[in-house]
Amino acid sequence: MQIRSATPADVPQMSAFLMRPTELGKRTRPSGETFVLDYYINGPDKIRCTLAEEDGVVLGFQSIARAPEGNEFGVTPGWGIIGTHVNPDAARRGVGRALFPISLKAAQDAGLTDIDASIGADNPEGLAYYEAMGFRTYRTPAGKICKRYQLYSV
Ligand SMILES: CC(C)(COP(=O)(O)OP(=O)(O)OC[C@H]1O[C@@H](n2cnc3c(N)ncnc32)[C@H](O)[C@@H]1OP(=O)(O)O)[C@@H](O)C(=O)NCCC(=O)NCCS
Repeated sequence: MQIRSATPADVPQMSAFLMRPTELGKRTRPSGETFVLDYYINGPDKIRCTLAEEDGVVLGFQSIARAPEGNEFGVTPGWGIIGTHVNPDAARRGVGRALFPISLKAAQDAGLTDIDASIGADNPEGLAYYEAMGFRTYRTPAGKICKRYQLYSV
């Protein structure tokens, strides 16, 4: 498995496997190539988007961005917002575990104090994943469980 920064050339594969949870009703955000390029690759608040690849196949990616004022997720401005997407064909093989230290380092380098992971309350694998990475529940808006990773105690 190779871990590297996501590039525009990865967009078709990233978009293709985001379509699957969308079709199953498990993803409500857009999945099209334009959204993937504009948000994950070129997003104005992007800190890093890291990708795992094997033999030219994208296994998964993880994005971390700085929460802007008035963000749609209700995350404290200045905190990190993390998202993880592993190709269903590559689930539970340690892809997510391999991606997180890279995002965490990027968060530290960017001076973040906290990272928010907003997860569907009906997404047990997402909840288990972030809990395993050290995130802990700190708020529960309707239908979601939001977990926080604290980088510094102030
Ligand atoms: C959640 C997700 C990112 C996990 O990625 P992954 O590469 O399969 O996870 P890993 O194999 O690295 O697992 C790391 C740890 O997370 C936990 N975990 C991951 N998937 C799990 C599952 N299905 N059930 C229980 N625990 C799970 C385990 O503690 C695991 O450690 P272990 O295998 O040593 O027990 C992946 O399933 C995914 O992309 N799901 C769809 C999108 C999503 O839900 N994103 C996150 C919420 S927005």
